[in-house]
Amino acid sequence: MNRTVEVLPDQAALIQRSLELTLSKIHTAINDRGLCTIALSGGSTPKPLYEAIATQQLPWDKIHVFWGDERYVPPENPDSNQLMARRAWLDRVDIPAENIHPIPTDEADPAVAAHKYEQHLQEFFQTKNGEFPALDLNLLGMGDDGHTASLFPHTEALHVRDRLITVGSKDGQHRITFTVPTINHSRCVMFIVAGANKRSALAQVFAPVADDFTYPARLVQPQGELWWLLSQDAGQELKLNNN
Ligand code: 6PG
Repeated sequence: MNRTVEVLPDQAALIQRSLELTLSKIHTAINDRGLCTIALSGGSTPKPLYEAIATQQLPWDKIHVFWGDERYVPPENPDSNQLMARRAWLDRVDIPAENIHPIPTDEADPAVAAHKYEQHLQEFFQTKNGEFPALDLNLLGMGDDGHTASLFPHTEALHVRDRLITVGSKDGQHRITFTVPTINHSRCVMFIVAGANKRSALAQVFAPVADDFTYPARLVQPQGELWWLLSQDAGQELKLNNN
């Protein structure tokens, strides 16, 4: 695993560095393959990054946006990750509507929605059953309990290895999420983590030994690049060794 950890002095520096790295991955993907596939994280940390990306001049027709997880709510619900990304970024740029690939949340049964998104990814990436797509960039956050995407501690979703997409659960609320193998097949995974409240979970995620199912972010070990961009208040106590 090719892991790089950077601790940035504050939130603004974290967002600036995240922007630089995101733009670099977008340009590399387009140069190498003619398009870039990026999976977005939800939550609050990435919002200023999305706002910053929206100020850039980019070949929007070559960029395809997916979500690594979604709350099981309608797209106009304030909790929707899709809504946050549209308001912060996608509604502000000239990206073709067909390049935006939201997770469906309109099925009575979330498992049906998960299966629909999985089929959509298989069609887009031309993968067969049992194969996993290689997204160019998978943006992730981490909760103060060590969850990432909607892979919460000690939930069924952590054990799903034969599907691209599964149903997660947080306090009984359904989520739709990339599975661990889908995240780990990405060419580049970038965690963006800020806040002193993340410190103790980070210490466990970076510990040589800890329980992966208690701290699910430990399960993210992509074959490609793994970047952890941390603000000082989140990462200051970590014993860091890049490998
Ligand atoms: C979500 C996210 C989730 C998020 C973490 C961190 O749907 O909420 O995908 O995994 O990244 O909960 O959230 P913050 O960035 O708001 O701390």
